[in-house]
Amino acid sequence: MRAVSFLLRSPHRLHLSAVVLALLPPLLKAADEKPAAAELGAMMFQTVCAQCHGPKGEGNPQIKSPSIAHLPSWYVIQQINNFREDRRGTDPADPQGLLMAGISKALQPDQIHALAKHVEKMPMVMPTAVFTADGADVENGMILFQERCMECHRYNASGEMAFGSPPLTGRQDWYLADQVRKFKTGKRGTSKTDQNGAKMVLSSQFIGDEQTLKDVMAYIMTLNPAALEEQQQQSQEILKTSEASAEKVSEAGKKPAQ
Ligand code: HEC
Ligand code: HEC
Repeated sequence: MRAVSFLLRSPHRLHLSAVVLALLPPLLKAADEKPAAAELGAMMFQTVCAQCHGPKGEGNPQIKSPSIAHLPSWYVIQQINNFREDRRGTDPADPQGLLMAGISKALQPDQIHALAKHVEKMPMVMPTAVFTADGADVENGMILFQERCMECHRYNASGEMAFGSPPLTGRQDWYLADQVRKFKTGKRGTSKTDQNGAKMVLSSQFIGDEQTLKDVMAYIMTLNPAALEEQQQQSQEILKTSEASAEKVSEAGKKPAQ
């Protein structure tokens, strides 16, 4: 936490590091990637974000920070901009939102992009379900999810960029439940310029009571193993493609110079 407040007090420190990184020789140059941006994202994540979201982006229940690993970059950018532009994290009764808004306002646009790309690439962390053991009714949760949530978040809760709806898999159930409560009580999604938030303000009203909320969350947690498997398959494919292109590069390097 001390490092964080230090960074917040002197934002040029971040600039300075960015400049230093840009001057580094492109050691890790991948075929289609700007190394400086990838390095900047990784470096900033570990120095700033990991303080609260953990080194693997797994979140921290003590300060109520969500797992953010593997969130799609479009959603990360959208939320950081929401925090920056006072669409999220402005209510004095929302200390977590206020915390994240403070961090977001210290970031520069190129840093936000680099961070979002980095977060998207981080492997999904399987959250531990807390409501399931607490007597939540998964069956009841499934019915409500299919009737009221699936149309935007998809049948497997993987989200849909076209609707601006994020994946609900990979997040902790207590975090998701807190967000629904924030939408219901006007702490999130009520800004006039927050069109995506407005959809959730409306949808959250269909969750009548705390028990129903826990039931829906318990159902969403059952969708995590499939989401993890899908992600692992995707990263294996990406690995194969990059190995193939790395081979091509080293083959090309072996050709004698004329
Ligand atoms: C001082 C602690 C702290 C730091 C540092 C921090 N965050 Fe957060 N972040 C939070 C908390 C707490 C929340 C939950 C806000 C809420 O409940 O609305 C959050 C929420 C988020 C969200 C929204 C997730 C969602 O599912 O909507 C994103 C994205 C995010 N943080 C990204 C980052 C990035 C990237 C960094 C590094 C630049 C960072 N955070 C640094 C505490 C922190
Ligand atoms: C009309 C489309 C729509 C429906 C229906 C809908 N959502 Fe959403 N949901 C969204 C959008 C869009 C967002 C992103 C809001 C934002 O940008 O802040 C979102 C965000 C969320 C979040 C915040 C996630 C995070 O990482 O912070 C939760 C939790 C959530 N939805 C749960 C639900 C549940 C549970 C239901 C069913 C009761 C539901 N949603 C129904 C569109 C929808």
